[in-house]
Amino acid sequence: MKLALVPAAGSGSRMGGATPKQYAMLCGRPMIYHALRALCDFPEIERVYVVLAEGDMHWKGYDWSLPEEKLVLLRCGGDTRLHSVLNGLKEMDADAGDWILVHDAARPCIDRESLERLVEGVEHDEVGGLLALPVADTLKREDGQGRIASTVSRAGLWAAQTPQMFRQGLLIEALKRAPSDQTDEAGAVEALGYSPKLILGDPRNFKVTYPGDMILAEAILKNRMKA
Ligand code: C5P
Repeated sequence: MKLALVPAAGSGSRMGGATPKQYAMLCGRPMIYHALRALCDFPEIERVYVVLAEGDMHWKGYDWSLPEEKLVLLRCGGDTRLHSVLNGLKEMDADAGDWILVHDAARPCIDRESLERLVEGVEHDEVGGLLALPVADTLKREDGQGRIASTVSRAGLWAAQTPQMFRQGLLIEALKRAPSDQTDEAGAVEALGYSPKLILGDPRNFKVTYPGDMILAEAILKNRMKA
């Protein structure tokens, strides 16, 4: 069985504003709606779990129009993304062998083709894997004073995206042992000695982080709605 888990208990402080980032309005809907729509519409995913902060007062204020039989709310968000995911994994109705696609609420432009590539590429894998993109820019390491200390080779470097797809049992084991500032599931699985599989993602599946990112996400979603 394949299940999705969307951590949505962050405050999104880098975006500014009083509303948590996942509820910022994008094409007339809260940002998280778009990721949930894409995951609910993907036939291979049987249920989509959303992890909200315990005291979340925002969710109930919107008309979601998402399939109730597929969407499950969990109010068990933690202090960090890792804890939100781990709490969600423990509360969701799943077996150790089920595949879990963990996807950030802040990546609203996830598309069906990327989900297909991920599932096809990973479902017969022993470890699991994630969407990622080969790094295109030249990379510079800063000296701490706004100047370049060195140029870092980008050869063999990929930027991790989500969804990241692992079996529930392995994920729980990995996240329990990970440091709490671990920013992705793959890193926690790597720390157990495994090598997750890299699946080519899409630049449009970027993480909305800064206010200017909203304009780009809105343009991508509008363009897709027209098609
Ligand atoms: O802040 P950042 O963009 O890294 O957050 C990535 C995802 O993790 C977002 O979907 C955010 O809501 C979620 N998160 C969470 N619990 C936290 C912090 C972040 O579910 N304590």
